[in-house]
Amino acid sequence: MKVVIIGGGGRVGSCAAFALQCSGVVKEIVMLDANQAAAEGEALDLLHGAAFCADQNIYAGTYADCATADVICITAGLRRKPDESRLDLINRNVTLFNGILESVKAAGMKREAIILVVSNPVDILTQLAVEQLGLPINQVLGLGTLLDTSRFCSLIASTLKLAPSQVRAMILGEHGDTMVPIWSSATVDGFPLLKFPGITPMFQNQLFERTQKSGAEVISRKGGAGYAVGVSIREVIDTIALDGRRILPVSSHIKGAYGIRDISISVPTVVGRTGVIQHVEVELWPKELQGLQASAKALKDTRAKVK
Ligand code: 2OP
Repeated sequence: MKVVIIGGGGRVGSCAAFALQCSGVVKEIVMLDANQAAAEGEALDLLHGAAFCADQNIYAGTYADCATADVICITAGLRRKPDESRLDLINRNVTLFNGILESVKAAGMKREAIILVVSNPVDILTQLAVEQLGLPINQVLGLGTLLDTSRFCSLIASTLKLAPSQVRAMILGEHGDTMVPIWSSATVDGFPLLKFPGITPMFQNQLFERTQKSGAEVISRKGGAGYAVGVSIREVIDTIALDGRRILPVSSHIKGAYGIRDISISVPTVVGRTGVIQHVEVELWPKELQGLQASAKALKDTRAKVK
């Protein structure tokens, strides 16, 4: 499977490429960037490690590579400032993103190509891609709250000194200020998390607050996320490549699930080779459902402001 990473010369795109190289599932990774030298440098650095990885073809390419890509991952974008919300980014990034969509359309896409949007504000940009690319809506996804879910699970595990791979606790809604923690279905190796010793309302509030602020916290220390967002991107792309049919909290155009429609937002989503296979409406606590619907309204209000 061929993956083109638009933004491959940047921190997020190069970390995603490295994660894909380490997992070895996809066979071709093309690094694309406005900064051609950066894309070539990242591709070269990855190539230098190829002898100890899976046999893949990794190189710097051009928009022409989109015409034969199975997955086009868009990570290019201006980074948020520490005190800036993702939605504040919107106008700065919408212009850039629309230009990228035009270049992808001009290059042409395979009929079954899948688009994975990572650039922020990811839900709004995912919705723009749905509206502008003319692909079936199941073929357009956004990384959504998968990164937040990874942070949430990892922070819970670290605090409770448990194995991160056994903690399952989803964040749904906007990848942003209105994201929603789903404690009702949180488990550790199948056991209800809320039944674990030490889980108090204060613990829950602290862990969710840390998750919400994780993006800004990383930005203030090192300028922006890389590794966690890279493995989150790999999680989606490898699930597509393997037709994994895994339930992932990714952003996509919703057509009625949870009473939400006509906006892209993260709900539990079965992901496979054709992209979005199904939105799964698991039962939520009333306050979780209200939070999710409020998040969708916030995104629809913002979408309405975008030219
Ligand atoms: C983050 O939360 C990049 O939006 C991403 O770090």
